Amino acid sequence: MRLLFVASEAFPLVKTGGLADVAGALPQALARLGADCRLLLPAYPEALEALGRYRAVASVGDPYGAGQARLLEGRLGDVKTWLIDCPPLYSRIGNPYLDAEGRDWPDNALRFGLLGWVAARLSQPSSPLPWRPDVLHVNDWQAGLAPAYLSAWGGPRPGTVLTIHNIAYQGLFPAETMVALGLPWSMYGIDGLEYWGRISFLKAAISYCDKLTTVSPTYAREIQTSPHGCGLDGLLSKRASDLTGILNGVDYEVWNPEKDPHLAHPYRPGDAASKAANKAAIQAELGLSTSAESPLFVVVSRLNEHKGMDLVLAILPFLLSQGAQLAVLGSGDHALEEGFRAVAAKHPSQVAAVIGYSERMAHRLQAGGDMLLMPSRAEPCGLTQFYAFRYGTVPIVHGTGGLADSVVDVSYDSLQAGAATGFSFGPPTASAFQWAVERALALFRKRATWRRILAAGAAQDFGWDASARKYLNLYSALADR
Ligand code: ADP
Ligand code: GLC
Repeated sequence: MRLLFVASEAFPLVKTGGLADVAGALPQALARLGADCRLLLPAYPEALEALGRYRAVASVGDPYGAGQARLLEGRLGDVKTWLIDCPPLYSRIGNPYLDAEGRDWPDNALRFGLLGWVAARLSQPSSPLPWRPDVLHVNDWQAGLAPAYLSAWGGPRPGTVLTIHNIAYQGLFPAETMVALGLPWSMYGIDGLEYWGRISFLKAAISYCDKLTTVSPTYAREIQTSPHGCGLDGLLSKRASDLTGILNGVDYEVWNPEKDPHLAHPYRPGDAASKAANKAAIQAELGLSTSAESPLFVVVSRLNEHKGMDLVLAILPFLLSQGAQLAVLGSGDHALEEGFRAVAAKHPSQVAAVIGYSERMAHRLQAGGDMLLMPSRAEPCGLTQFYAFRYGTVPIVHGTGGLADSVVDVSYDSLQAGAATGFSFGPPTASAFQWAVERALALFRKRATWRRILAAGAAQDFGWDASARKYLNLYSALADR
């Protein structure tokens, strides 16, 4: 099985969120299962630096008059990795999607158009490389034009799969962008790229891919309904027979508390003394009072309303009144950042806000926290709850998307069965959230019960193998058509 996996970020080359974790780990898992999998992404400066060794293997052209693009080849673990080198489009410092002020790069249509264009070129008989995929797997809107180009050009094509990691991000641009992208106006229609008078890269992929997946079974159902489908629910329900949900996995090489280089005290799941030492270490590092008794809630998240971060602010007075602590790591909406900063400034021994991105701090918070807060209004899969299980931190989640598929709510029955792994609530309101937190606080003080919840979480195995097999089955069905 020859597979080309296309994404706009992949850990450890470049990461802004969970897509990078998936694109870093799934191709490796597929390669371990015997697939000849190649990874394609843009050559951002930080990705080139992280890749280390690479060489130019092909010139791929200049479809937009923005500059000649070449392919640089390196290796990530077991996977041959191709970075598209086109300095006028990619060689800039900062986030892959946003400038320093947090605005979309003005030429994102071309930057990610090129990603899809190159993926399509490499999938054609006239590819500049001697290798062609049986299946082309594109992720999210940034890679979404690849199947559209294949349809525009005609001729033999590989099987095509789109994975939707978050339907809220659709890659919308003015209709005239069709011209700059070299796409025919015949594709600007309700069955093609057109979306309310603009073009949508995500809709392009939904329209022109053979198979569609998303990252949890529950989210696959949710996005066929309004408002979860963010306007694409009708189209997705028409394609229901081609849409499946495959839960993400965890890279336990990266997220393993026993071998985690970021931790003050690496530990085996279940080692309460070392867990307590990590809690004391992070409390000290963040200037919180080093109290073993105070429950420490943690957040590792983009800070926006999708993630329900306003709900965390709403219940903060209650947390403070209970003598609890909160440590937040994240960045995003300015008002939310300021909101957390302000409470931290007022209550420095109880609340810490680390605004920014830090891989090290993400690991240390998972290790030091007692509970992880994820009140997401929508959550296609979510990965931090999986990490929390392994790190002995109990997730409190809104029961939606992948959170509904991975966290078993504490109830009398689930506790008796040893199945309870966290606290789940709904609807996504501050009062329902607070009630879940109250339930958690009551059990936190019952150590034997709490240990049962921790043990059930630690026993969960969300390794990539099972999910990678499901992707392989999907690819095989396509390649054998
Ligand atoms: P999403 O992709 O929607 O942001 P996920 O839960 O799937 O949500 O993945 C988030 C990933 O990004 C996790 O690996 C998490 O540890 C990481 N992450 C989120 N915010 C930060 C941050 N501020 N610093 C470091 N890592 C972060
Ligand atoms: C998206 C989703 C998140 C998911 C991640 C990886 O960023 O918001 O829920 O875990 O992609 O699939």
